[in-house]
Amino acid sequence: MEDRVASLLLDWYADHARSLTWRAAPGSALPDPYRVWLSEVMLQQTTTAAVAPYFSRFTQRWPDVQALAAAPEEEVMAAWAGLGYYSRARNLVAAAREVAAMGGFPDTEEELRQLPGLGAYTAAAIAAIAFGRRAVVVDANVERVVSRLFAIEEPLPGSRKIIRQRADSITPDERSGDFAQAMMDLGATICTARDARCLLCPLQEVCQGRVTGDPLRLPVKAAKKPK
Ligand code: ADE
Repeated sequence: MEDRVASLLLDWYADHARSLTWRAAPGSALPDPYRVWLSEVMLQQTTTAAVAPYFSRFTQRWPDVQALAAAPEEEVMAAWAGLGYYSRARNLVAAAREVAAMGGFPDTEEELRQLPGLGAYTAAAIAAIAFGRRAVVVDANVERVVSRLFAIEEPLPGSRKIIRQRADSITPDERSGDFAQAMMDLGATICTARDARCLLCPLQEVCQGRVTGDPLRLPVKAAKKPK
């Protein structure tokens, strides 16, 4: 079943990828790491709809990492206003300056992790999407899809380790960036927190959560401890 998942999902993505300005078309040449990095930082805790106009303004004003590195921090902070979580903007400037000084983005997950503001998710996303490296990319959407796909009964957050192992087991060696983005799109449009539109899902035939009859139950969340 593990091998089937990537081929079903990548076929679906070829027709159903959301067209988001920072993306390359599915299966085409790799997108610019600067644009991937900027979009992934903006998308932390912010929806794609809210990010789109900011992304366009930023890339018009600062078309590459050298331009952003040369910008005064206050100007970047002002352009960020409204997106929230301002530490992201401060880290953005700091990371741009490091990257410009290095002569370009590093291309491994491990090196990307060293940059200001880059956590495990963002480093994996950039390595896979911009550099075509195999990386296991797990955000909240992917957690939900994997929990349902494998009918993982263990509650979050304790289940994170098993979710990561399962995500690893279905990540293909080739096109892992498209695969990651397809998982995110599936989680955003079909296998959502509120809805499991199984009849539209490319993974319906391999999904164990669907077999249980109640995929919406998943992922199970640990009961909050009384204070
Ligand atoms: N959310 C965060 N990054 C994303 C991406 N690259 N594609 C779709 N949704 C995302």
